[in-house]
Amino acid sequence: MNKRFYITTAIDYVNGLPHLGHAYEKVVADVIARSRRSLGQEVFFLTGTDEHGQKVQQAAVAMGKSPQTYCDELAAVWQQLAVTLGLSNDDFIRTTQDRHKKLVQAILAKLHRQGDFYKAQYTGYYSTKEETFLTEKDRRPDGTFDPSYGEVVELVEENYYFRLGAHQQWLIDYLEANPSFVYPENRRNEVLGFLKNNQLEDLCISRPAARLSWGIPLPFDPQFVTYVWFDALSNYVTAPASHGDPGALAGFDAVDGVDLTPGNLALWPADAHVIGKDILKFHAVYWPIMLKAAGLPLPRQVVVHGWWQKDNHKMSKTTGNVVDPVAVINEWGLDAFRFYVVRELDLGPDGNWTDAGFASRYQSELANGLGNLVNRSLSMLKRYREGKVPAVAHDLAAEVGLAVVELRQRWLANQLQGGLESIWKIVNRANQYIDQTAPFKLAKDPAQAQRLDEVLYCLVETCRILAVCLQPYLPGTATRIFQQLNLPGTPDRLEQAQWGRLLPGHVVGEPSPLFPRRDAPPKK
Ligand code: MSP
Repeated sequence: MNKRFYITTAIDYVNGLPHLGHAYEKVVADVIARSRRSLGQEVFFLTGTDEHGQKVQQAAVAMGKSPQTYCDELAAVWQQLAVTLGLSNDDFIRTTQDRHKKLVQAILAKLHRQGDFYKAQYTGYYSTKEETFLTEKDRRPDGTFDPSYGEVVELVEENYYFRLGAHQQWLIDYLEANPSFVYPENRRNEVLGFLKNNQLEDLCISRPAARLSWGIPLPFDPQFVTYVWFDALSNYVTAPASHGDPGALAGFDAVDGVDLTPGNLALWPADAHVIGKDILKFHAVYWPIMLKAAGLPLPRQVVVHGWWQKDNHKMSKTTGNVVDPVAVINEWGLDAFRFYVVRELDLGPDGNWTDAGFASRYQSELANGLGNLVNRSLSMLKRYREGKVPAVAHDLAAEVGLAVVELRQRWLANQLQGGLESIWKIVNRANQYIDQTAPFKLAKDPAQAQRLDEVLYCLVETCRILAVCLQPYLPGTATRIFQQLNLPGTPDRLEQAQWGRLLPGHVVGEPSPLFPRRDAPPKK
């Protein structure tokens, strides 16, 4: 049983509808998952929803629904988003599922037994919106708290705390010794800076059930429910453990009612947790310490993406300044959306969505660049050779080969945007090659028949290889190119990108535009 490349996304809160930011993260993770499959690795891709806690409880109350009914309705919307985005996820975890709740309780029981928790009384400030306790340090010079905390109330309450302090130096050493643990590097420096300059405070891992009932009861004290972040982070191991992954099951004890019989999936440790920059501390500080306490190895990498704005402003429901991914996909097609978000924004920095930028990339890179190349290549082969592939020629073989090598390296280095740049080197070179060789002129001169054969071979072979390279990014388009080439199977293995595999004598199918030209500006 080989260990799979195990990749996860953040699990989304179901207190609202999905927007561009959520969709972007899922597409990024999907491109990584598909590119690893293309490289021949076995992959397991997990995504899901985070359904407990105050935010969700409040949203349910506002709708006059029970939290469970509310979550069931919203989870269906989020599950549908995964389908709409064409995600190749192997599982979708909901934190209200029994498989998750039972295993979170098992982790809690184990840590409690080990003495990792203690109960203490807290007197201080609490932000309901952020579900977090605040200290004097969080006050602004004028004594108020940042408005992002929402209403801040004074609280006196008992809770359970997780001893983190003992692990601080260990975590610093781990981050120093494993430079690739957090990607990109500036985010790793951020975590290290935080850990070196602050004394880690113990983490409050409970909330009194009397104040917040929508959570997983602590197995050792049902007066309390689990803090939503402890519950949510655990999903990365509860899902594999529910499939019998021996790596994840190593963190559980049979005494807690967990069936430790191994299955035939090997997943843990995760290879990549794809998350947004706002939840870095949870993934690079709390999560590693939770895992260490549970006796589990750490994930190989936390991959941190930036945040999208729209027209240089924060996306906000109140101002209506939100990009709805489903509306964009309905209007422009799924692959146009997937292309724009990965092409426009490198993995790491923040990005800015503009409708004009979207339309412009669609027109120049997809319609005029890729679409036109495939359409012209196939149409000329049809017109001049009745669709029959001529003898193998090699004009573009070396350049295409180099771009494919570069693409492979970029995939392995999380350079998804760079990967598209490598692919567009091929697109642009092939379009330039048409201009330079002018096959429409060659076709008029019978003495140039062999040269025309060579050019046509190089063009259709380039289209075939492009389908293979594009598949992780634009799976639908890649399949359509293969169909138009009348090739069997799917272009989902990079090894198929080897030059010369398109056999002479093969007859291609009908070309049809991959990205219809759009002259009208996109609707607002
Ligand atoms: N439920 C927690 C995550 C728990 S993971 C164990 C959460 N949910 S969220 O719905 O608020 O955010 C989900 C993901 O979407 C996060 O990774 C977050 O960074 C990302 N994004 C939310 N808004 C975003 C943008 N505007 N741009 C890019 N990503 C953004 O946090």
